[in-house]
Order: sequence, then C-alpha cells, then structure tokens
Amino acid sequence: MSLRDAFDAADFTALGHHLWNPIGAATVAIAMPKPGERVLDACCGAGASAIPTARAVGPGGLVDAVDLSASMVDELRRLSTDLPQLHAHQADVTAWATGGYDIVQSALGIFFFPDMTAGTDRLISLARPGGRIVFTIWRGDAMAAAGEHLGRAVAEATKTPLPEKRPPHLFDQINQPDSYAAWLTERGLSNVDVAVHELRLTMTPELAWLVILGSGYRGALAKFSADTVEAVRGFYLSSLRDGGVTELEATTLIGSGYRPRTHAGSGIPSAPVRW
Ligand SMILES: C[S@@+](CC[C@H](N)C(=O)[O-])C[C@H]1O[C@@H](n2cnc3c(N)ncnc32)[C@H](O)[C@@H]1O
Repeated sequence: MSLRDAFDAADFTALGHHLWNPIGAATVAIAMPKPGERVLDACCGAGASAIPTARAVGPGGLVDAVDLSASMVDELRRLSTDLPQLHAHQADVTAWATGGYDIVQSALGIFFFPDMTAGTDRLISLARPGGRIVFTIWRGDAMAAAGEHLGRAVAEATKTPLPEKRPPHLFDQINQPDSYAAWLTERGLSNVDVAVHELRLTMTPELAWLVILGSGYRGALAKFSADTVEAVRGFYLSSLRDGGVTELEATTLIGSGYRPRTHAGSGIPSAPVRW
C-alpha cells in the first residue's frame, strides 16, 4: 500500500485537535513567520503548521504547502478558503523546484523521505541564504506504544504471527535533542537549536482509536474488511487496558537553524528562483 493511502483526511483532521494542531502551532512559534514572508511548508498534511503560518505572513506573504496525499491537499484547501496566500500543492516535496524561501519548515514529515538525509538536504537548499529552517520530529519512541498494541491486535484478530520489528532507521539515532542537533549541524545549518515540545494524550477509548484512524497507523488496516477492523479495534482497546496504557507519549523535537549566508560574490542568488 502506498503512503498516498495511509492517511484519511477527515480522521486526520479530527485527531489534529489533539495531536497535529498543537505540534504545528509549536513548530510555527519557533519558525516565527512575519508579514510578507515566503514559506515552504513541506509534508503539510491538513495544514497544522501551514494554516497558522499563512495567517502570520498575511495577504502580502506566501505559503507553498506541499503534500503527497491528494485527500490531505483537498482537506487543506477546504480549511483555508479564507487564506488566498496559502497555495496547497499535491506533489513529492523532495522534487519541489521552487527555492529562495524565507522559511522552510516541516512538521513530522522529514522521516518519511525514502532517504531522510538527502530529502532534508534538498529542503534546506530551497531556503534563501540566511533563511530559517524548522523541522519537527518525534522524540524517542513517541507514539510507538499505539503501534505496538495495534500490531498485537491485528495478530489476534487475523490469527497471524506478531509483526516483525521494523528495521533500524536513521531516525532511531537522532531522536534525542543532542543527537538531533548534531545531525542538523552536519546538514550545514548555523545557530542550531532543538526545543522539546512535551505532549501526552489521554487514551480514552475514543481517542485511542482515533490515534490509529487519524494517523499513518491507519495504513495497517487498509486491506481488512469492516468486520476485521472492528475485531482489531476490540483487541487493541483491551490490549491497551491490560497493559495499563492510559497516556500516549507524543513529545516532539523542534529543530531549527539558518541556512548560512554565502560570501559576497559567490554567485548564489538570494532572490526567489526556480531550480
Ligand atoms: C504525520 S503527517 C504530518 C502532516 C502535517 N505536517 C501535520 O503536522 O499535521 C505526514 C505527512 O507527510 C506527507 N508526506 C510524506 N512524504 C512526503 C513527500 N515526499 N512529499 C510530500 N508529502 C509527504 C504525508 O502524505 C502526510 O500527510
């Protein structure tokens, strides 16, 4: 199943009130967009960071909000009809060609890139020299408990073995403030800072299930019938209850820095360009 199918816009928006929106707002508080600025919001989803950014840059600014998922982009267009400065695009942002942005930001997006380092470097190259870069990622094993209990529930409902542990990912090595700051510094950013945004969700049965339906975990259910999904829901909720899980860790790391200014006469343009 492709990532295009992994998120559902309506459930994503519903979960957004608890999860995506506070994280998006915290990301924007670090990026500090100003009136008139041009911003690239990569992996924009339904606009948790793109919408507040568009409000901040105002009608004289511009936000290019880019997501792979057509349903996310449709949802963002629906939610932002009063913000003509927000342009929502369905595209792979790692192939985005416009550059020269004052801010390049991505909330909970960069770890989806098939090559996280190359994709991130590419995004950084789209900021103007001196432009601000803000990338938010999960801290440690945030959200993982939901995935583990879902995996157990799918195995029980379908009478199949437990899913294998996912292979190691670069993300596992850079999901703490120090390691993330070091990795961002290796990307060539100056004045790197990592802010910790603490968040925990209270796992009522309704919210616990919305965490699955309104996130990428939904993809694990895509091939099942409605009856099987209902059985998974029951096993998942009892697994959480038996495991004493009443809260879900959802803390993020908001990494920021600046694309270095180039020396005078280097020939690198500072005005908006298309590569
Ligand atoms: C966890 S969601 C976060 C969405 C949004 N930034 C927010 O905080 O609510 C991740 C999003 O990244 C998008 N995505 C993943 N890879 C992408 C790519 N290469 N180009 C554009 N969007 C991508 C997915 O479609 C999904 O909407």
